[in-house]
Amino acid sequence: MISKAMHGPIRPARADTLLASVGERGILCDFYDENASEIFRDLEADAGGTEEAHGFAALVRPESGAILELGAGTGRLTIPLLELGWEVTALELSTAMLTTLRTRLADAPADLRDRCTLVHADMTAFKLGERFGTAILSPSTIDLLDDADRPGLYSSVREHLRPGGRFLLGMANPDASGRQEPLERTQEFTGRSGRRYVLHAKVYPSEEIRDVTIHPADESADPFVICVNRFRVITPDQIARELEQAGFDVVARTPLPGVRNHELVLEAQWGSVEDAH
Ligand SMILES: C[S@@+](CC[C@H](N)C(=O)[O-])C[C@H]1O[C@@H](n2cnc3c(N)ncnc32)[C@H](O)[C@@H]1O
Repeated sequence: MISKAMHGPIRPARADTLLASVGERGILCDFYDENASEIFRDLEADAGGTEEAHGFAALVRPESGAILELGAGTGRLTIPLLELGWEVTALELSTAMLTTLRTRLADAPADLRDRCTLVHADMTAFKLGERFGTAILSPSTIDLLDDADRPGLYSSVREHLRPGGRFLLGMANPDASGRQEPLERTQEFTGRSGRRYVLHAKVYPSEEIRDVTIHPADESADPFVICVNRFRVITPDQIARELEQAGFDVVARTPLPGVRNHELVLEAQWGSVEDAH
């Protein structure tokens, strides 16, 4: 994901080189675009949500009512949260992601579908005219937002939480892995279809960004879809500081179970229940 407004893909040097070599067969797209949706599914980017959703759900107070889920994607967490019985408002900026989630809901039992509201909006600037007991942000999502965009997320969330409400923000916990991330790595892997892909990740320490490029291993692929994604390299300490500056009280950091591991949830509380009286 490039920027909140999805103004078009970023252009990592790697992608430029590939585009130059494949010529007209090349399609450059954001990982959450329509053009990438087939690759997204092939890479099972949507897998492993149940355990994570259960991890989040364990932190939701039973009396907190409907959950506001931000950057819901194709419903990796939304569907298991609905299956657990929660009511969910799922907000997402990418129309491609939202379309997939809508289709999944259409195929789901009516009881689940009826407890889900889909919203096409930008999580850094939204107004739903409603307040929630809990807002959830999945891991690998806060790092899609620029420094300039995160304050908009915090203030939008604040305006949609009831006093005492919780913002549960998932993110990678670099301390848990004990590994230093290399500045550059290239890795080949196989999709569900058997197709091979190449992932290239490059960290730019001075700019605090990590660019990720995924493309077919087969150089003759037509179309040759190059997916790009830019992540900010940010730590839980930094996000916790920003949340405190935005008026939240970061009450806990809880490890998040799930296939991806090394992730945690920052539990940020907005005001207290007494403020409502
Ligand atoms: C890492 S994916 C996570 C999706 C889903 N929550 C999950 O766990 O699989 C991040 C999602 O956030 C969405 N997103 C990125 N920027 C956004 C924004 N400004 N407002 C709303 N959604 C956004 C992307 O389109 C993508 O679907």
